[in-house]
Amino acid sequence: MKVGLFFMKDLVDLASAAAEPPADDFYEKVRPRLHRRIGRELRLARRVLDIGCGACELARYLAQTYHQDVTGVDVSSGSFPKRARSRASGRVRCIHRDARRLDFIKDETIDAVVTMWALHEMAHPLDIVAEARRVLRPGGEILIVDFPKDSLAQRLWNEDYFRPDQLTEMLQASRFSRVTTRLTERGQILWGKGYRPEATMGTGGP
Ligand SMILES: C[S@@+](CC[C@H](N)C(=O)[O-])C[C@H]1O[C@@H](n2cnc3c(N)ncnc32)[C@H](O)[C@@H]1O
Repeated sequence: MKVGLFFMKDLVDLASAAAEPPADDFYEKVRPRLHRRIGRELRLARRVLDIGCGACELARYLAQTYHQDVTGVDVSSGSFPKRARSRASGRVRCIHRDARRLDFIKDETIDAVVTMWALHEMAHPLDIVAEARRVLRPGGEILIVDFPKDSLAQRLWNEDYFRPDQLTEMLQASRFSRVTTRLTERGQILWGKGYRPEATMGTGGP
């Protein structure tokens, strides 16, 4: 009986362990490769805004590798580095702010906006995409890198992720042009981008 009970307890422990999300470092392994891909995508930009920057790792990578001026914005400053200034000639600043209202950034002053693994967490993603458009110069690029629906992330953390068509719809609704969205990294990453249209004569601007 005792042995039986002991065995039962072990079974219960095994069952609750199985209910825990599996530890998986897939995304940590993929992170540096994504930083490199994002860097290549945005390398021509001089002023970059990283929305939902977390520990400002991407911002520091871009500043050090491409000497860009990078502003990271996050609603939580808990992970910010102590000194948010890179040793390279590029400059990094991490600002504690809700990306829904970036009133410290003037209209049309940013060359590229990036957000990595963060849009799905934002309570008002459409407002944030609209704010990104406001600060982008005409011709500037928005790049959204996130976990997609039905991915490993969904099984690990089960948050409300976007499908590629939902991201396309969001970017088009915010009047971005040349919008493309796709899955990459064996379907585990959603990669979407668009451009703020250039001003055209007689249309009343972009
Ligand atoms: C999963 S973390 C990703 C951090 C970082 N981009 C990375 O690649 O590690 C998502 C971040 O989005 C931030 N966030 C959520 N809502 C936000 C908002 N409204 N404005 C700014 N940042 C926000 C969170 O505080 C968090 O740091």
